[in-house]
Amino acid sequence: MAKPILLITRRLPPEVEARAARDYEARFNPEDIPRGSEVLLRLAEGAAAVLCTPSERLDAATIGRLPASVKVIATFSVGFDHIDVAAARARSIRVCNTPDVLSVATAECAMLLILAAARRAGEGERLVRSGHWSGWGPTQLIGTQVSGRKLGIFGMGRIGRELARMARGFAMEVHYRDIARLPAELEQGARFHDDDASFLAASEVLSLNAPGGAGTHNWLNAVRIAMLPRGAVVVNAARGVLVDDRALIAALRSGQIAAAGLDVFAGEPALDPEYRSLENVFLLPHLGSATAETRDAMGFLALDAIDAVLAGREPANLVH
Ligand code: DGY
Repeated sequence: MAKPILLITRRLPPEVEARAARDYEARFNPEDIPRGSEVLLRLAEGAAAVLCTPSERLDAATIGRLPASVKVIATFSVGFDHIDVAAARARSIRVCNTPDVLSVATAECAMLLILAAARRAGEGERLVRSGHWSGWGPTQLIGTQVSGRKLGIFGMGRIGRELARMARGFAMEVHYRDIARLPAELEQGARFHDDDASFLAASEVLSLNAPGGAGTHNWLNAVRIAMLPRGAVVVNAARGVLVDDRALIAALRSGQIAAAGLDVFAGEPALDPEYRSLENVFLLPHLGSATAETRDAMGFLALDAIDAVLAGREPANLVH
């Protein structure tokens, strides 16, 4: 029997591609060139499944033109704000993501951003690389100690809770803001805030860990930034669209925010060019889930979901 056709939009880890080639007539992207909608639609001809990534925008127009053969879209990501889920639902195309398996890696990245921003690691690294470092100095590159500080987590889902677990190892006092309070066994002593003002006032270090989408678009704006303690540290390992970039840049210039760590940007790979010229922002190229074990696990979970949908089963990681 002919294997079903699976379109894989980007290059994936070798073990994941090997499994895809074993089980499907897989259409790969060995050059790993991000592709626009027209090319994707052409490549999807006859496909039963599409394994996509956050680097493609599967908007309503694109989904509306997918061939009728497509039964499932699995994204190699936990975030699915690049997929118009309502449009997929309207065409009875199932949508799956890769939750859980990347929570630790992404929380590690948020912790890396916190430490790097607070301790001025970017400036330090640039100084050493520049050849202008003149040696140790008592007042050189003084940063903010994170141990014992209050950490505010905006979005206490799986990644937020992993970050809270790590932050407790740094004796940070964890506060969080979410739609609803968590049960005590998930809260683990973290303090819930049911309004932005008290949450932000407590957040000496603020970490954004909420999904992208209409409800969180530009959530960190000038009004909310003004509610943070002066000299707060802000990090974002979630989605760039959570931040009003102009407001964050103004606050980094004024000192309202002492330092920021950003792994994600609205319109990636483009970013507001002013970030590049600010010394007090630590920048990463969307590395949140980028560990070998995590990327393998994401690929296998996406393939599990495709296998299940095509076999008429309901995968656990179904978005709809
Ligand atoms: C996700 O999974 O949503 C990440 O942003 C990609 O690693």
